Amino acid sequence: MQIEAVKAAYRRYARIYDVVFGAVLQPGRNAVLQALKLKPGDRVLEVGVGTGISLPLYPRDVRITGIDVSREMLERARARVARAKLPNVDALLEMDAENMAFPDASFDKVVAMYVVSVVPRPAKLIEELHRVCRPDGEVFIVNHFQSENPVIGTLERALGAFSAQIGFDPQVDLRSLVPAAQNGDVRRVNLFWKMVRLRNGVSHKL
Ligand SMILES: C[S@@+](CC[C@H](N)C(=O)[O-])C[C@H]1O[C@@H](n2cnc3c(N)ncnc32)[C@H](O)[C@@H]1O
Repeated sequence: MQIEAVKAAYRRYARIYDVVFGAVLQPGRNAVLQALKLKPGDRVLEVGVGTGISLPLYPRDVRITGIDVSREMLERARARVARAKLPNVDALLEMDAENMAFPDASFDKVVAMYVVSVVPRPAKLIEELHRVCRPDGEVFIVNHFQSENPVIGTLERALGAFSAQIGFDPQVDLRSLVPAAQNGDVRRVNLFWKMVRLRNGVSHKL
């Protein structure tokens, strides 16, 4: 996946995103929001915030910053924030999650929902998630990861040939990407998606 292909894919998806991916991806968003255990005043970064579909789920007493590379997806997120009058969203910024402009340790919790298999360099993304999270903070990832089932694995490889067109790579391997996740906190959301909770301060540099 190249960043221009990602932007082109989400330029196409933006108008229909909520209808096509709203309900179907909701279990993972709900799982993360529950696991975050947010406290009043917590600073949260959501990378790949997309149309901001998860924003109404956050408690009103935390501070949220969202970033995305797709201008069209962000436009929808801004419209949603205005429509729903969400006072807890500090900023929605056009920014590459693989190379963020935030100083180290800027956030208490960092969230990436359905983004790891979309970015060109997933390992770089994860490094950045940890960098901008405070040393004892937490990083939450929801994603589809390569299946251990040989039949599904074959289907994923076939689908992988079209990753630029469909806008995600179905072959991202959790264990090689996040070694600590092997013994860390990995929870299956459903047949397709897993949630990974990583404590910061444990080295996840690849
Ligand atoms: C599958 S959507 C997920 C959106 C949202 N998190 C959700 O739960 O529906 C992936 C999002 O990641 C964004 N994205 C992809 N690569 C990115 C990057 N390098 N930096 C920031 N956002 C990126 C896309 O533009 C898209 O909005």
